[in-house]
Amino acid sequence: MTIQRTYAIIGGTSGMGFGVARRLVDRGDRVLIGGRDQGRLQHAAGVLGERATTRVVDVTDRATLSSFFSKAPPLSGLFTPAASYQTGSFRDASPEIAASPFHSKFWGQYWTVHAALPYLAPTSGIVLVSGAASVRPLGSASYTACNAAIEGLARGLATELAPIRVNCLSPGTIDSELWRMRPSNIREAAFSTWEDLTLSGRVALLDEIVDAALFLLDNANMNGTTLYCDGGYALR
Ligand SMILES: NC(=O)c1ccc[n+]([C@@H]2O[C@H](COP(=O)([O-])OP(=O)(O)OC[C@H]3O[C@@H](n4cnc5c(N)ncnc54)[C@H](OP(=O)(O)O)[C@@H]3O)[C@@H](O)[C@H]2O)c1
Repeated sequence: MTIQRTYAIIGGTSGMGFGVARRLVDRGDRVLIGGRDQGRLQHAAGVLGERATTRVVDVTDRATLSSFFSKAPPLSGLFTPAASYQTGSFRDASPEIAASPFHSKFWGQYWTVHAALPYLAPTSGIVLVSGAASVRPLGSASYTACNAAIEGLARGLATELAPIRVNCLSPGTIDSELWRMRPSNIREAAFSTWEDLTLSGRVALLDEIVDAALFLLDNANMNGTTLYCDGGYALR
């Protein structure tokens, strides 16, 4: 008998979240995916097929996180790439912009894990998402601090939630929907800067980031650590 596992992915309609969902259903698992936009959820469900269930959720709203996980089956894993924020320089950012990475990306993931906890199997794995700015700042101190805080959160949660495993994935710039939806001049300038800043000399492929996320979800000996899938950005 094949055991069918269920994984929750918050931010599963696009980018790395959708990529991980697609790999999981392709290998026979079920996914419960969330995002704010019903239309994007329906589109994702159409592509992923019957092994996917979708629910609307906004990680900045704890009530929607409770309803998202309500009556969920036992979960084998949780992946939390959902975030929407603005960044700005220390001197120029308004209080709202300075706080926005923490509001959405840090507290979003913190309260997502809190809401998911009753449904997570003891053998499950959680993968949080930070970003390469955590170790090498690029112009927004609050965004840098937010990503470093998420990596600390993974270590703290790993010690408090054991035997549930908690790790963090820290990507660099990815050739993905997030960038393709931005104006081409902004995307090309960002990609070109990134190419100069990394040892690999190129932006990441989405599949490479999905591989890294699945490795952290699956490998039972990975715990309390951050995986930097950033082409050597931190070393150049
Ligand atoms: N792409 C990169 O180059 C890059 C580099 C470094 C770090 N990262 C980090 O990786 C993470 C994901 O990146 P990605 O490229 O996969 O992004 P993406 O393609 O924009 O996908 C984000 C997903 O999260 C959902 N989402 C956004 N805000 C949400 C909210 N408040 N509540 C619930 N769902 C929300 C989106 O759907 P809705 O909009 O419909 O809600 C979408 O499904 C982010 O934390 C980002 O900071 C990305």
